[in-house]
Amino acid sequence: MSVTSINSSPRITTTTLFEKKQRGERITSITAYDYPTARLVDEAGIDVILVGDSLAMVMLGYDSTMPVTMDEMLHHVRAARRGVKRGMLVADMPYGSFQISNEEGLRNAARFIKEGGVEAVKLEGGEKRVEFIHRLRDAEIPVFGHIGLTPQSVHTMGGYRVQGKTLSAIEQLMRDAVAIDRAGVCGMYLEGIPREVAAMITAEVKAPTIGIGAGPDCDGQVLVIHDILNLTFAPAAKFVRRYADAASLISNAVKEFKRDVETGAYPADEESYHLPKEARATMEGFAARKHAVGSRREVV
Ligand code: KIV
Repeated sequence: MSVTSINSSPRITTTTLFEKKQRGERITSITAYDYPTARLVDEAGIDVILVGDSLAMVMLGYDSTMPVTMDEMLHHVRAARRGVKRGMLVADMPYGSFQISNEEGLRNAARFIKEGGVEAVKLEGGEKRVEFIHRLRDAEIPVFGHIGLTPQSVHTMGGYRVQGKTLSAIEQLMRDAVAIDRAGVCGMYLEGIPREVAAMITAEVKAPTIGIGAGPDCDGQVLVIHDILNLTFAPAAKFVRRYADAASLISNAVKEFKRDVETGAYPADEESYHLPKEARATMEGFAARKHAVGSRREVV
């Protein structure tokens, strides 16, 4: 029996993504870092569920993505894995997990596959990652690239700035995109680049492009779930569309709970457990006898 005939909705694979690009169907991707969110995102039919290193900022409260470790990433990847049944689960290689040597990078990518159960890894960087991408492919690990505004380069970029705005920067971006495409990435994230440049890259490469702040002409789009839901405690970037206000939802629910506890409105009788009838009668009899004994003692 084929996997397709077992599941009502077939699993998303690297082949699905290439086919979608060829058919001109848009690819959807959202980040998720825990079981309930990953499950909801997967059940909504999102193609690629990314456990991004953005979790450093949105889940762990760091100022940048730089501090998050392999072990912290794996903790979240394993939780997300339990929620994803259909989409492709991808783990982001955190800063320092692959820059030191290809061997160490390969070991860490293999941990995501073996211990985290992901279908692919993602890593930031263009031309200079070609050799490492080949090593991952030799080890049967599908890999997504990530070029443009790469947050792990925040210190060398001098902040989070839109990339690819000058002719030489555009040429470098094109070289990066073509190089990782030829090296065999199964997709590439294009972040923070002018839409015209993203359109050119998308037309040039075989791999599906997934944009974030890269305009509408990419093969797909990704957003960070906390941005979509307004859970970042920060003003939204230009490219973010807020689809819900979870911050207000959570805050209001918590305030209502606090008020209800303080006023005694929670829990109500219907929210309390009761003894069965006979046990209640026995207990009431017991309480009455105890009261009577107590009263006699008082008389004595
Ligand atoms: O870490 C992340 O969430 C990402 C996406 C924004 C592409 O890299």
